[in-house]
Amino acid sequence: MTTGYERSVSASPHEQRAESVWEFRMPQVRFGRGAVEELGHQFRDLGVAEGAQGVLVTDETLVSLGHADRVSDELEAAGYDVAVYDGVEREPSVGAVDECIAFVRDEAGPEGFDFYVGLGGGSALDTAKATRAVVANGGEVLDYIAEPTGEGERLTDAGEPLVLLPTTAGTGSEISPVAIFSVPEKEIKEGISSNHVRADAAVLDPTLTTTLPPDLTAETAMDALGHAIEGYTTHDYDSLLAPSNAEERPVYAGRTPITEQFSERAIRLLSGNVRKAVHNGDDLDAREGMLQGALFGAIAGLTAGATLCHAMAYPVGNKYHTTHGETIAVLTPASTIGYNVASDPSKFADVADLFGVETAGLSDREAATALRESYVDLQRDLNVLPSGLAELAGVEEDDIGWLATQTVETQQRLLRCNPRPVTVEDCEEIFRDALYNWE
Ligand SMILES: [Fe+2]
Repeated sequence: MTTGYERSVSASPHEQRAESVWEFRMPQVRFGRGAVEELGHQFRDLGVAEGAQGVLVTDETLVSLGHADRVSDELEAAGYDVAVYDGVEREPSVGAVDECIAFVRDEAGPEGFDFYVGLGGGSALDTAKATRAVVANGGEVLDYIAEPTGEGERLTDAGEPLVLLPTTAGTGSEISPVAIFSVPEKEIKEGISSNHVRADAAVLDPTLTTTLPPDLTAETAMDALGHAIEGYTTHDYDSLLAPSNAEERPVYAGRTPITEQFSERAIRLLSGNVRKAVHNGDDLDAREGMLQGALFGAIAGLTAGATLCHAMAYPVGNKYHTTHGETIAVLTPASTIGYNVASDPSKFADVADLFGVETAGLSDREAATALRESYVDLQRDLNVLPSGLAELAGVEEDDIGWLATQTVETQQRLLRCNPRPVTVEDCEEIFRDALYNWE
């Protein structure tokens, strides 16, 4: 069944039938302690021959921690040559990615390298994804960002093999079909969204995550939980309209039986391990649980679709230069498990259960309210997260109108996934609600 609101989602006006097909696309995945040592095997699996030349895209912190050496040593032992680009910016701009692309063209010529490796948090992985895609397709990053910000050109070539190694348990960039960048002159964050942006393989080794400090552990965990919960509570795929042909099916295509399973497991793993991982970073069992939870959350949320909270986070991040994870953390109570509960309280009662809330005897609405309280209690217990938008970025009442307008005007890619329609006035209320999650 479709509604007028959902009609805006994906179909051309002449063909309005409900979606009846879902797809599931994933990079190859290698997971576990010691997975880094199988990196050479991973590239052989992808058909990269001995003697090939590649580039490792990372940042200075991961070089100084020794993780970059660990990765390049493995590749050299497998018979590959590796150049290292360590200039990745935190929350990168399109200009920063164009610098990485220029590095590749300088070092390897216009055809680029034989393979690409990304090591780091979402910023490094997104930079590696966009670099590989733009080198293969020509031009610069803005050519492939949707209009009106960019030129909206389609990527037609996936490029040479790309393997991603996350060092945080959160962003899901290692499996997602999206790379996000700021466009400073337009004060917005925008993504390149295409199946050609997705990596060929993700190698997830929890021993790469034990050096992540408590604040980054907590905020990336909140991002991962956001993916899991947003993916669980977005539209069902068959309540959306079918595209006019399969090629135009959006990368965020609604909740399916597969994404539902991954969401459920992700919420359990993340809520069950995050306190241990934040308070004792060397707890490798907790780190492994978090990395697996983040992977599963990403499989769910970044296939089904991230929703309102992610839409609101981009204008905030761009204006106040807050990180993606801490922004998701402060916005989730008011948006995902506040405003959106009205779309289907029973789904939020399910989330409450998965989150470990005692729901016996509670109505769905009461369970959803208890979920919000429990989620905020968790954030307080982690001791490293801001209490709301006010503490995070000094946001005040006067700033809310701009933030709400930006969200609705620039984030339709995500808002079309939201299970409840959102006006500018609704969005203002939600931002107001997010100023203080606790006193
Ligand atoms: Fe996210």
